[in-house]
Amino acid sequence: MTSEDKKTPPHIIVIGNEKGGCGKTTTAMHLIIGLVKLGFDVGSIDLDSRQRTLSRYLENRRKFIARKDIKLGLPWHVVVNRSPFGILEEAEKDERERFEKALGMLSARSDIIVIDSPGSDSYLSRLAHSYANTVVTPINDSFFDMDVLATVDGETMKMIRPSIYSEMLWEQKLERAKRDGGALDWVVIRNRLSMLDAKNKRKVGDVLAELSRRLGFRIAAGFAERVIFRELFLQGLTVLDVMDEDTEVSVTISHVAARQEVRELLKGINVERVNQRLRELEEQSQSGNPREEDAAPATKPAPAAKEPASDAAAVIASYRAPDAAPQQEQDPLLEAGYAEAAGAR
Ligand SMILES: Nc1ncnc2c1ncn2[C@@H]1O[C@H](COP(=O)(O)OP(=O)(O)OP(=O)(O)O)[C@@H](O)[C@H]1O
Ligand SMILES: [Mg+2]
Repeated sequence: MTSEDKKTPPHIIVIGNEKGGCGKTTTAMHLIIGLVKLGFDVGSIDLDSRQRTLSRYLENRRKFIARKDIKLGLPWHVVVNRSPFGILEEAEKDERERFEKALGMLSARSDIIVIDSPGSDSYLSRLAHSYANTVVTPINDSFFDMDVLATVDGETMKMIRPSIYSEMLWEQKLERAKRDGGALDWVVIRNRLSMLDAKNKRKVGDVLAELSRRLGFRIAAGFAERVIFRELFLQGLTVLDVMDEDTEVSVTISHVAARQEVRELLKGINVERVNQRLRELEEQSQSGNPREEDAAPATKPAPAAKEPASDAAAVIASYRAPDAAPQQEQDPLLEAGYAEAAGAR
């Protein structure tokens, strides 16, 4: 199958939480690269067109790959910009068009699409949630950040009411079911788990378990608080690259543990095609081929440039072909996103 001829619709994972700085982009990047390394064609969308952290992370990676002349693997990436229209109705129509166009283009090439959303409510973010098969919500591991899920009674530790985000997610779930009967799996992950403070950690765990029953999400393992998660941004690397490839970054115990956390997360999202791939790798390693990268090359060769009738090729920034010159005719809807993501500016 060529990457432009996907028969099965992609599995769409939205990373969402209306609170800023809880680890959405960090989680998105590690999932994207983890999935690429499993051999999937991955599409990624940056909905945070103001900050563009994911796009800059990927751009740093593209530059690192070019500079070191190594193959690390990249997704197909698109930034969806907010509409410049002032009238709400027109802006929403415009943004829906931009989003669906981006999704359509990536769907033709991707097995899995990972969407990073901004840390605030927006129409684009709500829309993305309504297309999700899986929503991953990282929360910082503290009571302080739990109110993004619900208001909790400090005495009884019971839920008083769901948060606006939880309500929004529920509405988008219904929206999705109405549109195509699809289901949405909601997974909450605890980010920045600290090694200390075991008592508090347990309390947070208890309240989360209660909320998970009331609000209908699953809890999956997240990442511990580790300096390495902050350090790799400028090189565009993830802990997986540092462990698997010759990136000249010295490997520490913390990297080893962090890689295990990313692997657990890949299992924790519980996506059937990912589970199947993980099972295959497990079987291969048991039959004497223990190196993951032997079974699934980190980077598959860039697909042959095939010019579709539409302008899709012009607006998709293919990180798989880092030296590809930006097309002259760009889609005005996504142009800025493409140009920046492709490093043309
Ligand atoms: N497990 C972790 N250990 C240490 N630092 C982390 C961890 N997870 C995230 N960080 C750091 O916390 C900061 C915020 O993370 P990130 O940008 O992923 O959050 P975000 O939810 O995408 O933020 P925003 O809402 O602004 O988009 C970054 O500096 C990141 O490197
Ligand atoms: Mg972010």
